[in-house]
Amino acid sequence: MELKPTPYRPFKWGPHYTTMGIRDMPWDEWIELDNQMQSFYYIKKHRIATRGNKVVKILPDRPGIVRSARHSAIELVHELSDYMSKRFPDAFTVKRAASGHILSINLVLVGETLDLPPPLAPKGSTKMREVSIPEAEEAMRVAAMLTQDDLILMVEGFDGRYYFQGGAVCVSGFWRMRDKIGLTLDEIHIQGHVPQYEEKLQQSMDRYFRRLAVEKPISRVTYFFQVIPQKSVRAPLDTASQSAAEPVVANDSIVDPEELAWSVTTNGNEESFVHGHPISPDNPPVVRAENLRLRGERQSLRRLPLSGAIAFTVRTYLVPLEDIAKEPGVPARMANTLRNWPEDVRKYKENGLFEDVMLEFLDRAVEKQRMEGGEAYVKDPGQGYPF
Ligand code: HEM
Repeated sequence: MELKPTPYRPFKWGPHYTTMGIRDMPWDEWIELDNQMQSFYYIKKHRIATRGNKVVKILPDRPGIVRSARHSAIELVHELSDYMSKRFPDAFTVKRAASGHILSINLVLVGETLDLPPPLAPKGSTKMREVSIPEAEEAMRVAAMLTQDDLILMVEGFDGRYYFQGGAVCVSGFWRMRDKIGLTLDEIHIQGHVPQYEEKLQQSMDRYFRRLAVEKPISRVTYFFQVIPQKSVRAPLDTASQSAAEPVVANDSIVDPEELAWSVTTNGNEESFVHGHPISPDNPPVVRAENLRLRGERQSLRRLPLSGAIAFTVRTYLVPLEDIAKEPGVPARMANTLRNWPEDVRKYKENGLFEDVMLEFLDRAVEKQRMEGGEAYVKDPGQGYPF
């Protein structure tokens, strides 16, 4: 797989506005795949082997509150297998039954074949079969290996609110599934202290979730920053290393040196992490430009046609700040965005951890681009900017 990760740089000139930031998503852009696929695969495999139900979980029915996501898990793994094999036929091949449903999927890039559970309903029928929680969790483990994304299932409760009822959340970096699973959309964001959630986002998000139509999927892009450990040799995610090939019981830092899955250097130990923001590590890390990463997220939302649950996907892109420094116009836009953060956004996104180092570095990069006659101040580079 030669394809490079999409360079999302969601930085706008001018004042900060808190909005949902969603756009319609063409159907063939549901899930992206690129040359980091193998690294993600090994990291996820390691996380599932070492974290089990902390990273893949389906909640049961909660009487009077909300139904289980177990049916949606089966539907999701079939939808994903079908999509990935059609969209990326060189990377995924499937074996189908005579009736057309997928029996197994071959991950060509890593040489593994995974069996799928029987489909949720026979072709042409809407009558869903019985599904157990272990079967649904196995389906989510398979689904996790098919994408670079984290996968979340939101189910509408009897009160009309959406509940986080299941997921395969292996590489979320700065929040843990165990702290959020079972909560409603509102509780997730309020307990995470998302800035201006109640004033600017809550109502529109609730409305969007209730109305999201099967044929109208949406996506959004957002960003965070992360400090990773100091080290002399960089191990970028697009070079799945030999050591990562046998990772199941290996050390986290060997499998995942950039701390994609959990941000130890920025947020401290995963087990003793205290849920919620702002960032508050026990020992603030040493921050240098070379160990700063942009943590971009591309998220998608679509309603699954049979079970009606909403599948929320999150693909994370870790990009060295040093690489961004070379991109025409981006350091200037990024520095402008940081300088325009309202105080609550600043506290949420960096809490005094790395802003000074980052701004100094970006300003130098802007100056270098200017001196070299480059386009240091491209305000609108087109191509769907700022996504
Ligand atoms: C239209 C859909 C959604 C919108 C507009 C939205 C918006 C946001 C925003 C604005 C933030 C703060 C970070 C940022 O600047 O992006 C955030 C954080 C977060 N969102 Fe969402 N969100 C959506 C859906 C979801 C769903 C379905 C989940 C389900 C798990 C979720 C889980 C989270 C989590 C875990 C965080 C981090 C909170 C923390 O820092 O602890 N979001 N979201």
